[in-house]
Amino acid sequence: MKRVLALIGSPRNLGNCELMVKEISRQIPEEHELRLLRLSDFDLRPCRGCYACLFRDQGCVIDDDLSLVLDEILAADAYIAAAPAYFLGPSSVLKRLLDRALAFYAHGEQLWGRPAVALAVAGIRDREGYTQLGVESFLKLLLADLKDSRVIYGALPGEIFYGEENKAVAAELGAALFGARRHSTAPACPVCGGSTFRFLGGDRVRCMLCSNPGSVSLRDAEPHFEVGEGAHEMFTSMEAVVTHREWLKGMKERFLRERKQLKEITTGYLEGGTRVTP
Ligand SMILES: Cc1cc2nc3c(=O)[nH]c(=O)nc-3n(C[C@H](O)[C@H](O)[C@H](O)COP(=O)(O)O)c2cc1C
Repeated sequence: MKRVLALIGSPRNLGNCELMVKEISRQIPEEHELRLLRLSDFDLRPCRGCYACLFRDQGCVIDDDLSLVLDEILAADAYIAAAPAYFLGPSSVLKRLLDRALAFYAHGEQLWGRPAVALAVAGIRDREGYTQLGVESFLKLLLADLKDSRVIYGALPGEIFYGEENKAVAAELGAALFGARRHSTAPACPVCGGSTFRFLGGDRVRCMLCSNPGSVSLRDAEPHFEVGEGAHEMFTSMEAVVTHREWLKGMKERFLRERKQLKEITTGYLEGGTRVTP
């Protein structure tokens, strides 16, 4: 039986994220086991930025619950990632796990292309900020195949189901997970389906999900984005993942080569400021 892993960014038991995840699961036509992983239940410490996980067989050097979470991720066939909007972005536990994702890339080939759907839950209509982009990025950087992505609204736990609207959204997300990717009718990046862009001046844009550059124009009074796979793309293929992983590993050699020059720069900043400690 397929395993669907729900990665939940809300600490609230039976909160809106959990309810929606369970409703999506009920609407998945394929038989599956739903596993609920509430990220706040786990001891996930901040990444130290040491890059050791790229070179160690045992993964990250920090002794916390990362390996438990990673084992669940590795054992899954598909993901539902759900996070509440906290101050215009996804709750920070999602990012805390994502910051540790360099440790996942040793398993890149195994993780690549698993189906996933993204869900952002915001309490106030139109006040989700970048929450949806945050959840989408989380899944994309987990090397998943993003089948659909939505933002829904509801503040009090359960409020999302006052009407039938969000049950219909759950049905679409449930159908998309192991089915065909849903193509939004709204303007979107043709490479990855992302809907958040940075405007770079003139008609130039960059998709904030796949990082590819492109342009925007008006067609029949609607914005139309033309984006092509480019030099700075973020994981549009497994080859791009391998290239990025090798590039990161190469940084160690570069660091060793340039260590003296870098030290001259950094030691110039030894003095200055009073360090605040706990
Ligand atoms: C600390 C905090 C910050 C929040 N910030 C936002 C926000 O910026 N925008 C918004 O629409 N809702 C915000 N909310 C409301 C939640 O997104 C909303 O209640 C949501 O349903 C919570 O999902 P949950 O029940 O799964 O925890 C915030 C809630 C909390 C606790």
